Amino acid sequence: MNETPTIPELDIDPYAADNLTDPYPMHERMREAGPVVRLTPYPSLVACGRHAEVHAVFSDHATFISGAGVGLANFNTETPFRPKSLILEADPPLHTQTRTVLSRVLSPKAVMQIRAAFTEVAEQMVERLVDQSANGGTVCGIHDLAQIYPLKVFPDAVGVGPDARENLLVYGDMIFNSMGPRNALLARAAERMVPVTAWIMEHCKRENLRPGGFGDQIYQAADSGEITHEQAPLLVRSFLSAGVDTTVNGLGNVLFALAHNPGEYAKLHADATLARPAFEEALRWESPAQTFFRTAVRDCEIAGLPVPENTKVLCMLASANRDPRKWPDPDRYDIGRRPTGHVALGAGIHGCVGQAVARLEGEVVLTALAKRVKRIEPAGAHTRRLNNTLRALETLPLRLTPA
Ligand code: HEM
Repeated sequence: MNETPTIPELDIDPYAADNLTDPYPMHERMREAGPVVRLTPYPSLVACGRHAEVHAVFSDHATFISGAGVGLANFNTETPFRPKSLILEADPPLHTQTRTVLSRVLSPKAVMQIRAAFTEVAEQMVERLVDQSANGGTVCGIHDLAQIYPLKVFPDAVGVGPDARENLLVYGDMIFNSMGPRNALLARAAERMVPVTAWIMEHCKRENLRPGGFGDQIYQAADSGEITHEQAPLLVRSFLSAGVDTTVNGLGNVLFALAHNPGEYAKLHADATLARPAFEEALRWESPAQTFFRTAVRDCEIAGLPVPENTKVLCMLASANRDPRKWPDPDRYDIGRRPTGHVALGAGIHGCVGQAVARLEGEVVLTALAKRVKRIEPAGAHTRRLNNTLRALETLPLRLTPA
């Protein structure tokens, strides 16, 4: 008689502070235990740490849905802490409808149109940093660049006014914390939830968006009947919640990667056209969004292992991106690698709709650095900002040597 294969169980809490600080030993344990594992602190979910299964789950949106939430909470049994996203936490046909609009707003042509403005700001910021560093100062890779750059260029493109934009960072921190358990990180983030949510929703109103910007274009889709006028502000909200903290950490993580791998930075400095692959490899190596969930819509299997209906499936994107079954020498940051197939931006129908914007930001910032800066070195210990979903730095002291 064939026995039902069992899913190995590990006593791991992915949200414990030591695992958030250094997730890589935990990833290895999970990957080596099997293609699917159970985690004792969260008995109702299963987790996948290997690339093949994470990719397979993300590619099968009919079995593994997003509408019951893409965090730990199961919206089939728990109330979402905010009205659900009409794209990220939606399934077809609603997802198809909203995604069509947002994909068009962020089309390659639209991204080409913002390129000059994004480049100019990147060059100005790098110039300022070089001056600051040349005058004997160290710079903070996070506060002086990774945070202020996306906070300037992206809300400008969406059409949000210049005041109090740091609310976008607070909001992003809260949204990504809310995808984990109700722990101290979420409690701290939630303290500012009411005023920050009010600020965000106010800035998603049409009258507060610059005519012609990405936000206004969403309202134009409502004018033409593609979506409703009630849906429009929630879709603008999707840009503001998903489009800032993610790129802040994408930029912070690539600066960290380059500062700690001087040989790789030397290659980039010698050939600025490596900016895009250097950013892409950092997305793989130190993935800004570490995890996303799906929910099994029926009894099914992952890698031949039984997964009952309504089970939450924790997909460890960052672990998949360092799976040695997929990547040779995965812990090495190597800008010569072309990490095609990494899942840092997701995969399948929910694959990041803002990926062209994220890549543009990475490319123009690294190009500006490569041209103006000969060496980037750590100038002291960095600190981490723990978040239930994001891999984030709080500070990154750097010394820049001008070219
Ligand atoms: C380095 C920066 C970024 C990273 C690492 C990132 C990561 C991701 C990932 C992993 C997903 C898939 C989530 C899932 O399948 O459940 C996603 C979806 C999404 N991202 Fe990004 N993202 C980034 C930048 C952006 C930007 C700049 C925008 C806005 C312009 C954006 C807007 C969105 C939206 C709206 C979705 C939902 C798409 C859908 O459900 O169809 N992201 N992102």
